[in-house]
Amino acid sequence: MAFLKNIWYVAAWDDEVAPGRMLNRRLLGQAVLLFRDADGTVRAIADRCPHRFAPLHRGTLKDGAVHCAYHGLAFDGRGACVLNPHGDGTIPKAAKVTSYPVVERHSAVWIWMGDSALADPALITDFSCMDKTAFHVGKRYLHVKANYQLETDNIMDLSHIEYLHAGTLGSDAVKRAALDVAQDGDVVWSKRVTRAERLTPYLEQAMGVPPGQLVDRWLDVRWTAPSNMLLLAGATATGRPREEGRETPTIHLFTPETETTTHYWFAISFPQAMGEMGKAMAEEHIEGLSIPFATEDLPMLEAQQQSMGDSDFWALKPILLAGDGGAVRARRVMDRMLKEEAATATVAA
Ligand code: FES
Ligand SMILES: [Fe+2]
Repeated sequence: MAFLKNIWYVAAWDDEVAPGRMLNRRLLGQAVLLFRDADGTVRAIADRCPHRFAPLHRGTLKDGAVHCAYHGLAFDGRGACVLNPHGDGTIPKAAKVTSYPVVERHSAVWIWMGDSALADPALITDFSCMDKTAFHVGKRYLHVKANYQLETDNIMDLSHIEYLHAGTLGSDAVKRAALDVAQDGDVVWSKRVTRAERLTPYLEQAMGVPPGQLVDRWLDVRWTAPSNMLLLAGATATGRPREEGRETPTIHLFTPETETTTHYWFAISFPQAMGEMGKAMAEEHIEGLSIPFATEDLPMLEAQQQSMGDSDFWALKPILLAGDGGAVRARRVMDRMLKEEAATATVAA
């Protein structure tokens, strides 16, 4: 399976790339090294020295340059060799490493692993609900031993919350939910509304619903390629308009590490206007969500991957249920984008 190259992927939360420190991470099968320049700008270069291929993250970061631990060559954030401590110090022409375009936006670091001439920051999906200037953002990271598209399926088909998260996020109203799938260009929406639902005590508390109050709950998920989702969730007393409820965004961002492992960044946000309470809620809620994600979703996703082994998803002929519409559309968009990219690469070659 190939990965889409000419698209922005999340590489890290912004605060994972701390000043003066290096973060090595495999993305799309490639070893990448993230760090900040002397002026604080995030950089990403290949994590492999061109001399004897030592991983550069074993070296040291000094004044924005990475010094290889093996024989001391140093590389800057653009991948240029800036120091050869051997011989007369001449820098060999081939002494450079690949550098990747990176942009710090919406509390995340975005990376472009394809043709850098095409890396237009305007193509980054809008996740401004994670902008720290206007929101308190609670965020976490999980490593998952499963393919990233299984994660798309998981978020786009929330019928699973009734089963996998029965005691935390689900209820038996979920399978009777009204579903609406919509596509706008390459953006896919999967919208789910439950009526007259009795929430779990955990959700009543999290969503500010009085105990026992029957509610209408909406779970609207926006998918954009490759596997980034915005989930807008809210509830109102049954029959009441949405405007009376509070809608809270959670964000689910997935980047393949390999074909069978995935980086998962998730977040929740509350407006800065809520002051200290919003800040406390962001932390409390993301901690609360981490538990079902890590102890209920993650083991299922990993078991699914083991069960599928190396088989192609479609080759296994999955049966389709009522809730699968959004996830299938997202997969179709990805299949088309992958085909188009492969065709362009062939023409270019
Ligand atoms: S392997 Fe990096 S300087 Fe030799
Ligand atoms: Fe889940």
